Amino acid sequence: MKLLPFLIFFFLCIASINAEISSRLGVNYGQLGNNLPTPHRSIQLIQSLNASRVKIYDTNPEILRSISHTNLQISIMLPNELISNVSSNQSFSDHWIRLNVLPFADSAGIRYLLVGNEVLSPFSAAAARRTWLDLVPAMRRISKTLKKLKILKIKVSTPLAIDCIQSVSPPSNGTFRPDIAEPIIRPLLQFLNRTRSYFAIDAYPYFVWSANHTNIRLDYALGNRDEKNLTYADPVSGLSYTNLLDEMLDAVVFAMRRLGFRNVRLMVAETGWPTAGDFDQIGANIYNAATYNRNLVKKFTARPAVGTPARPGAVIPVFVFALYNENQKPGPTTERNWGLLYPNGTRVYGVDLSGRNPEWDKEVLPKPGNNEPYKGKVWCVVRSDVAVNETKLGEAIAYACGQGSGTCDAIQPGRECYEPNTLVAHASYAFGSYWVQFRGAGGTCFFDGLAVQTIRDPSNGPCRYPSVTLSG
Ligand SMILES: *[C@@H]1O[C@H](CO)[C@@H](O)[C@H](O)[C@H]1NC(C)=O
Ligand SMILES: *[C@@H]1O[C@H](CO)[C@@H](O)[C@H](O)[C@H]1NC(C)=O
Ligand SMILES: *[C@@H]1O[C@H](CO)[C@@H](O)[C@H](O)[C@H]1NC(C)=O
Ligand SMILES: *[C@@H]1O[C@H](CO)[C@@H](O)[C@H](O)[C@H]1NC(C)=O
Ligand SMILES: *[C@@H]1O[C@H](CO)[C@@H](O)[C@H](O)[C@H]1NC(C)=O
Ligand SMILES: *[C@@H]1O[C@H](CO)[C@@H](O)[C@H](O)[C@H]1NC(C)=O
Ligand SMILES: *[C@@H]1O[C@H](CO)[C@@H](O)[C@H](O)[C@H]1NC(C)=O
Ligand SMILES: *[C@@H]1O[C@H](CO)[C@@H](O)[C@H](O)[C@H]1NC(C)=O
Ligand SMILES: *[C@@H]1O[C@H](CO)[C@@H](O)[C@H](O)[C@H]1NC(C)=O
Repeated sequence: MKLLPFLIFFFLCIASINAEISSRLGVNYGQLGNNLPTPHRSIQLIQSLNASRVKIYDTNPEILRSISHTNLQISIMLPNELISNVSSNQSFSDHWIRLNVLPFADSAGIRYLLVGNEVLSPFSAAAARRTWLDLVPAMRRISKTLKKLKILKIKVSTPLAIDCIQSVSPPSNGTFRPDIAEPIIRPLLQFLNRTRSYFAIDAYPYFVWSANHTNIRLDYALGNRDEKNLTYADPVSGLSYTNLLDEMLDAVVFAMRRLGFRNVRLMVAETGWPTAGDFDQIGANIYNAATYNRNLVKKFTARPAVGTPARPGAVIPVFVFALYNENQKPGPTTERNWGLLYPNGTRVYGVDLSGRNPEWDKEVLPKPGNNEPYKGKVWCVVRSDVAVNETKLGEAIAYACGQGSGTCDAIQPGRECYEPNTLVAHASYAFGSYWVQFRGAGGTCFFDGLAVQTIRDPSNGPCRYPSVTLSG
């Protein structure tokens, strides 16, 4: 073969391999579990899901070593705690990259370096808020270091939660929150535009729908087209929407336009649907999660690329959240049930992130039991399905009773809930009493895995355990 035709053939092959790889979805490999497979095994599992990319929340060298010489691309992260160190000190940035990135720059397919995770949350504590203004300067330093070390294929970005947008509906009204728009988002967009990087957004139709399920159809949130083909027309742009995720992404597109940036590409750093939830949560089940993620795969692996109504044809990298159910995530039960896989590596439901295996559509899934809100009383009690650590239980009682006012009066000696005088009975009372008082302010029935919601009234004798009444 003559050299020139050979080279052309060679480059065509490379191009087609890349197109093929980039038409698959990625997956978020979170590690907040104490029962997860090793990095080596995890990379095999990620490959068996036919993912093209994986995103991690640090620069775990064992994961980077395991991924080396596979064809997976990887997105790594600088932890939030180091943002200010990097922003104030170029040598710190250089040192951090030399230590954590450079050793893997050639062997592992590092494509994205994300600076912090959801840094601009309006719920940030005061200490975290102080890092907000350091975010973009830190990104500039990291970028400068990468350039200096001639690591050219890594894009620098930072994933933001959708709450960086003030209101997502209608999409044409998308506007960045006024507290961050000028001081942070504008310089961020200047950076992303100049470096041709991506605006990384975490976009969960599940949260938008579950907070507003009387107004938003479940099919619309899941990305199903129903038999009537219902669409939503944006009254200002005239664009027609068939699903909630497109609305959320276009709200970001319009918000960027409003600041004068029309060409910054989008990347979905996290999206997904939980497979289990509490009684006071709706629609978290295997059926919906499988439906959402399969629809997601179909949409984002379609060729030519579908894009969104405001960006037809745009190629958007997508990372599904998450690889595993992570048992050490705090918060409501949904938080520990986003996985495509159980911690033992078996799948929660079938999904092929390359979109080439249509067989999964035939998989028989458990019927959804919680697509309607639960109505009735719910109690928060000590879990009975696992052996509890009594020391931890004692600490949890002390914590719960130390919050609010009169939280644990009823379990004092001589009072109606003192008997039975056991740690478990007192903890169940204390957990419920805490939860009832603080639920409105975001308090959850979790207590580091010791507590669970129940609809079975634990009350006995004269003692009435505190409960929450859900009315739908
Ligand atoms: C980062 O900065 C903080 C505050 O200045 C400091 O306490 C911490 O030790 C620094 N971290 C590292 C790894 O140098
Ligand atoms: C900057 O970072 C370098 C490398 O981590 C460190 O040795 C140095 O002390 C830092 N300088 C300041 C002023 O914090
Ligand atoms: C547009 O968004 C703003 C907040 O950014 C909100 O106050 C206003 O009601 C929205 N307009 C419409 C038509 O939804
Ligand atoms: C609920 O959804 C409807 C329909 O999309 C929308 O008009 C309304 O603004 C949403 N309400 C909230 C509080 O998000
Ligand atoms: C629904 O919309 C799709 C795409 O626009 C179209 O191909 C299909 O025929 C429509 N189905 C019905 C029942 O109108
Ligand atoms: C974005 O980058 C392009 C190309 O470098 C440049 O022409 C354009 O002015 C930039 N846009 C903004 C709003 O800065
Ligand atoms: C894996 O874990 C799930 C959930 O706990 C369980 O249902 C399943 O039987 C386990 N599979 C194996 C092979 O252990
Ligand atoms: C991944 O792709 C292979 C080859 O196309 C296929 O046999 C396999 O079933 C796919 N994996 C999943 C989880 O669908
Ligand atoms: C029980 O919890 C305590 C305090 O949280 C801890 O120090 C101890 O190691 C735990 N014991 C077991 C057996 O896990």
